Parts: sequence; C-alpha cells; structure tokens
Amino acid sequence: MTQRTILITGCSTGIGRCVANGLQRRGYRVLATARQADDVARLRAHGLESLPLDLADSASIHSAVDEALSRTGGVLYGLFNNGAYGQAGAVEDLSREALRAQFETNLFGTVELTNRVIPVMRRQGHGRIIQNSSVLGLVAMAYRGAYNASKFALEAITDTLRLELKGTGIGVSLIEPGPIVSRFRANSLLALRRHVDLEHSPHQAFYARTIRRLEKTGPAVPFTLPPEAVLKPVIHALESRRPRVRYYVTVPTWAFAILRHWLPYRLLDRVLLAASGGGRR
Ligand SMILES: NC(=O)c1ccc[n+]([C@@H]2O[C@H](COP(=O)([O-])OP(=O)(O)OC[C@H]3O[C@@H](n4cnc5c(N)ncnc54)[C@H](OP(=O)(O)O)[C@@H]3O)[C@@H](O)[C@H]2O)c1
Repeated sequence: MTQRTILITGCSTGIGRCVANGLQRRGYRVLATARQADDVARLRAHGLESLPLDLADSASIHSAVDEALSRTGGVLYGLFNNGAYGQAGAVEDLSREALRAQFETNLFGTVELTNRVIPVMRRQGHGRIIQNSSVLGLVAMAYRGAYNASKFALEAITDTLRLELKGTGIGVSLIEPGPIVSRFRANSLLALRRHVDLEHSPHQAFYARTIRRLEKTGPAVPFTLPPEAVLKPVIHALESRRPRVRYYVTVPTWAFAILRHWLPYRLLDRVLLAASGGGRR
C-alpha cells in the first residue's frame, strides 16, 4: 500500500504535536504545520516534516497547501484541523476585534484550508477531513463565549460539509475533546490578557479566580486526559471504512453530550455555570 499523507495544523505543542508523532510512528507521512518559524525548525529537528501555516493568514494557508502538494505530487489523504486557541472572557467584555481574531483562526482559516484541500480529495476520489472541535462545541460554558461560538460554528459548518460531500469518498469527522493536558490554558490566559480590560470589568472577581486557575500547571479539572487520548479517535477516523461523525473524548464530553439532551435548559444552565468556575460571587 502507498504511504498515506496527512496534513495537521497547530503542531507546535499539545494535541497536534502528539498526533503528528503518533501518526508518523504508525507509518503515515505527516506534514506537521506550525505558525512560528522556530516551532517549524524544532519539529524538523525532532524528525517531523514541517511547514509553516498560520490559520489567521490566507497567504500562509495557500503557500502551505501549494508546498504540501508539490512535495506529495498533488495528493493528500488526510487533513486534521487541529490548530485553534481559546479566547477567554465574558461576552460583554469582548470587542469586535477579539471575536474576529477568534473566528479568523478557529473557523475562517480552518474552512479556507479545508476548501483548498477538498478539490484534491475529490480528484483522488477519497480522503478524510477531521476537525478537532470541543465539548464546548456541544454545550456553552460561561466566560468562554468567543471560543464556544467558534466551535459551535465549526460543528455546524462541518455537519453541512458532511452532507455536501456524501458520495464523494471523503469522510468528515468531528473529534470532541473535553479537558486535555496541553498549553491550551496558558494560551487562553495570554488571549484573556491581550483582549480584555480585566481591571474595569464587572467580572473582575471572576477573572482573578480564572487567572489563578489558568496559571496552575497540571490538570486543573477532574477527568483531564493526556493528548494521547485524541490519537486513537483520529486513527479510527482515518482508517475505519465507516468513520464516525463524532468522537467523544473524556468523561465530561460524554456527560455533557447526554445531559444537553435530557436536562431542562434551566437545570443544564446550573450544571454548566458550576462547571464554568461559577458565576459572580
Ligand atoms: N486542551 C483541551 O482541553 C482541549 C479541549 C477541547 C478541544 N481542544 C482543541 O484541541 C485543539 C488543540 O489544542 P491543544 O489543547 O493542543 O492546545 P495548545 O497546546 O494551545 O495547542 C494549540 C495549537 O494551535 C496552534 N494555533 C493557534 N493559533 C494558530 C493559528 N493562527 N494558526 C495555526 N495554528 C495556531 C498553536 O500554535 P502556537 O503555539 O503558535 O500558539 C498550537 O500549536 C484545539 O482545536 C482546541 O480547541 C483542546
């Protein structure tokens, strides 16, 4: 069998790097992309084939796809849309700029990249598109509105894409991780500080607690899993003859996937508020 190639976004750290290493060990040709030049160099030094790709920049997306296709002779078996970040902050504290930046990376860049890859997969008559979404694409927690919205939108556009690609041989799957050990919290804290006026917000007390939580190293919530937990569903989505529509990863994802259908809205709100780190105290 010829070696299958997969392009992965956001491989500088966390889930992306773990899945890139895992798939390379499994025999895939992995194009592990990252947005910073020094991360690309580091990935190369660690034996991965790496290219620069910044989801917030169309030119970067286009040149990464061109370079990938020229390296592979115009074929690409899989795309793992993993790169994203979490813009923390109460909805009323989010500027248009903060929301736009969140969507530029988590949704617009991801869709633009996917749309560059679909014609390649159509020509081949096969391919796999795997979206790293989140439990927060299924339920909305407080103080994460920008991120919730970007992942809900990713869920909707992916469900649409799956319908539109039916019969093409291209599988489309969503991975739904709950809490995973990575740099996600640290990066959320950077985004919070960058975009939210912490001192003048009615949510100031909450932010103080959040910053303490986000600064913690190691798992901050129960049922946190290592990034390896995402590798297994990605392999299934790539290799199964019938890839699943959604792969739930972690106990909280399973719990919220069930609760959102069974609990009355007001009760679900109470559970979600408690899970969000509480309301204003
Ligand atoms: N960790 C969790 O608890 C969790 C839970 C549910 C879903 N997820 C999802 O899992 C995926 C990976 O996150 P992670 O947990 O591994 O977090 P992470 O350690 O923060 O890694 C996120 C990756 O995305 C990259 N990224 C951010 N902005 C980008 C851009 N504009 N262009 C390209 N890449 C960009 C980051 O690159 P830089 O290093 O350059 O910033 C990094 O490589 C995300 O889609 C996230 O939403 C994570």
